[in-house]
Amino acid sequence: MSRPSWRERVDAARAQRAATSRVRVRRTVTHRDGARCLVDGRSLLNFCGNDYLGLSQHFAVVGALQDAASREGAGGVGSHLVCGHHQIHDALERELADWLGAPRALLFGSGYLANLAVVQSMLGDEDVCVQDRLNHASLIDAARLSGCRLRRYPHADAEGAIRQLRSMPEGAAMLATDGVFSMDGDIAPLRELALVARVQKALLYVDDAHGVGVVGPDGRGSVAAAKLGVADVPLQLATLGKALGGYGAAVLGDADLIGHLAETARPYVYTTALPPAQAAATLAAVKLARTEHWRRTKLDELTGRFRDRARALGLELMDSQTPIQPVLCGDDARALEMAAALEQAGYWVAAIRPPTVPEGRARLRVTLSALHGVADVDGLVETMAKVRDRIRLGMAATNWREAALVR
Ligand SMILES: Cc1ncc(COP(=O)(O)O)c(C=O)c1O
Repeated sequence: MSRPSWRERVDAARAQRAATSRVRVRRTVTHRDGARCLVDGRSLLNFCGNDYLGLSQHFAVVGALQDAASREGAGGVGSHLVCGHHQIHDALERELADWLGAPRALLFGSGYLANLAVVQSMLGDEDVCVQDRLNHASLIDAARLSGCRLRRYPHADAEGAIRQLRSMPEGAAMLATDGVFSMDGDIAPLRELALVARVQKALLYVDDAHGVGVVGPDGRGSVAAAKLGVADVPLQLATLGKALGGYGAAVLGDADLIGHLAETARPYVYTTALPPAQAAATLAAVKLARTEHWRRTKLDELTGRFRDRARALGLELMDSQTPIQPVLCGDDARALEMAAALEQAGYWVAAIRPPTVPEGRARLRVTLSALHGVADVDGLVETMAKVRDRIRLGMAATNWREAALVR
């Protein structure tokens, strides 16, 4: 028998990651206080989370969690179809459906699971899922797991989407896109995609993990911002762990499709229900997200300020109007070096490298929150520019020395 050694395989993969600046390490937070957190003993301003509206520590949200946990316990106890479904889940589903203008909502343990659920329960081997090239990994994995044929089109290219759908006229079709792209921050051309889906009889599914709460009227997300409804977008995803500050997700849309998911989606049927206390926390968060418009106004102001200042200092921005404001570095090692230097200066910004983003597109993914102040944003931008200049100078010195040695 000549089976490969697992240890050698894992060691080789790690060595390969190390050689290409792709090692991933996790950091340990010991305390969170608003936008500040204590990370491995150092106090940092967090510019890499997804708590856009600043609700994760809101007293009403935390209070709802504590109240419900003291009455109902900490866990989910069982799956929804056995004994885990609680009236708090019903209340949250109704509130989300009312907010986002959908006939029905269904809760999931996470956005990742919800995406697996939607694609797996709607598509089989004979079918096709057409996706934007920059969609979130969970949508890509969902299509792979469902066994359907997966085709990808160039980013935000509705023409590309229709070409792919036309080339596969057999089988049921789904057109799936992020609403707000998680690593780029731009918004999908949803009106054009809705037209493509209608013409091609494809089900348009919008993963609005980063849009709900943040964009659109009353924070109703990118589908509402595009003035589309359930007739155009029969299913959409809202996550509860980003702008809503909690954990979990909901799929919203056409009542029959949601009913089908509830009975057939394996990541719904074969897993423990979201703890009711967590649902209670999100219920409180949705009420705040619907009514406290100042949080979105502040985010918009901070986003505009970040962009103006970063542009003035020559940082390479992407075409994003949302609180996701990536700054391109290109080179993986440079992105890591910049993130490390920012951390030394007290700012926590994540260096995002392939395969999360395409090759040569490594970036610092800056995310803004209503918890940030104007001075925080100004300080970050100035420090980013200084760090970039220092690294550039260092590189220029190294290149000069190398050139001298060669000569
Ligand atoms: C676009 C998008 N979809 C889905 C998910 C998965 O959501 P969750 O973190 O709730 O699993 C994420 C999370 O990073 C995301 O960015």
